[in-house]
Amino acid sequence: MKNILIISGHTNTTCDSVANKAIMESLEKQLPESRTVYLDRLYPDFRIDSNAEQERLLWADIIVLQFPVYWFSMPSLLHRWMEETFLHGFSHGSTGNKLRGKTLILSYTTGAPTEAMDFDAFFGNLRAACQFCGMNYGGSISTGGVSYQMRQEAGMLAAIEEKAHQHARRLVDFLQSIP
Ligand SMILES: Cc1cc2nc3c(=O)[nH]c(=O)nc-3n(C[C@H](O)[C@H](O)[C@H](O)COP(=O)(O)O)c2cc1C
Repeated sequence: MKNILIISGHTNTTCDSVANKAIMESLEKQLPESRTVYLDRLYPDFRIDSNAEQERLLWADIIVLQFPVYWFSMPSLLHRWMEETFLHGFSHGSTGNKLRGKTLILSYTTGAPTEAMDFDAFFGNLRAACQFCGMNYGGSISTGGVSYQMRQEAGMLAAIEEKAHQHARRLVDFLQSIP
């Protein structure tokens, strides 16, 4: 099995997440040999430790970005992580080859139902970043219809958690199918 690093980009998994929290917990159970990072718990002040994050990336063969879609993009904290970690001389530039050959996978949730729009189309920036850094874009796993507003409706919480477990199962199957 390859080294799998899962980066949780939710801005508050402690008290403002149902889907992403459940996905992360399920992944931790199913992939005990993977490494997980909760950016919101490590960096509530957005002050990313570049060296620590680069060390984790060096260890990984496969990097999974786990996040809720916020405004048709990834959350600000995850974006900040990327800005502070994918640095010239590390990920790109004439001597920056440390991410070359690694695989990036997107794992995201949306409030809108999956069929509402092609969310993958919004992540052209990440596919371009992969190409720029010599990484392989491994594709995405997504789950729609898990809006925070639905949590107020009776019975919806359990349905969201069930969707989250199915999401984690699909992601694990996907990861295990990578040669
Ligand atoms: C600031 C903010 C922006 C959001 N933007 C979008 C969006 O652009 N498209 C969408 O489908 N859902 C959007 N949502 C809904 C979230 O994607 C959804 O609540 C989240 O995936 C649920 O995961 P969680 O339970 O882990 O928080 C947004 C939510 C918030 C709080």
